[in-house]
Amino acid sequence: MLKLFFCCTLCLLASSLQQPAPAPSSTAIPAEAARMVNPVKPTPETLAKAKKIYGYDCAICHGEKGDGKGDVVADLKLKMKDYTDPAALKDLTDGELFYIIRHGRGQMPPEEVGRAKDEDVWNMVVLVRSFAKK
Ligand code: HEC
Repeated sequence: MLKLFFCCTLCLLASSLQQPAPAPSSTAIPAEAARMVNPVKPTPETLAKAKKIYGYDCAICHGEKGDGKGDVVADLKLKMKDYTDPAALKDLTDGELFYIIRHGRGQMPPEEVGRAKDEDVWNMVVLVRSFAKK
């Protein structure tokens, strides 16, 4: 009986640990996530794939060229940064960009693993930075 009790308590504990994280908000990004270095070496192929996903999942808000002029921005009253301005992302690390894309932030939805693998998200970090005018 005691054994059973233990087992159930453990299961309950385990399932409560597996609860999805609370809704994304502008909560702070964990320091170790912010420090992460992009492990992916972009190639023309992987960047093309990132661009394709961006076109499906991101351009409606961030705009095809990353200028923040996507189709739904006015309707949703979103405040978007213009990534063609090199100053826009200069205070964010690659790790922070990865974290925001993966987990969402404020009115931005998270990019689920089923839609983009970690490798794809890292390539999107490279893509998002590449919008800046030199
Ligand atoms: C529904 C509109 C929407 C979609 C779709 C969306 N974003 Fe965002 N994104 C936002 C908004 C709004 C912010 C600012 C969030 C905040 O700081 O509150 C943001 C923030 C970001 C940031 C952090 C830098 C910044 O601009 O503040 C990055 C990087 C980013 N988005 C990339 C992406 C990528 C890549 C995708 C596609 C996988 C994507 N976003 C999809 C609306 C969107």
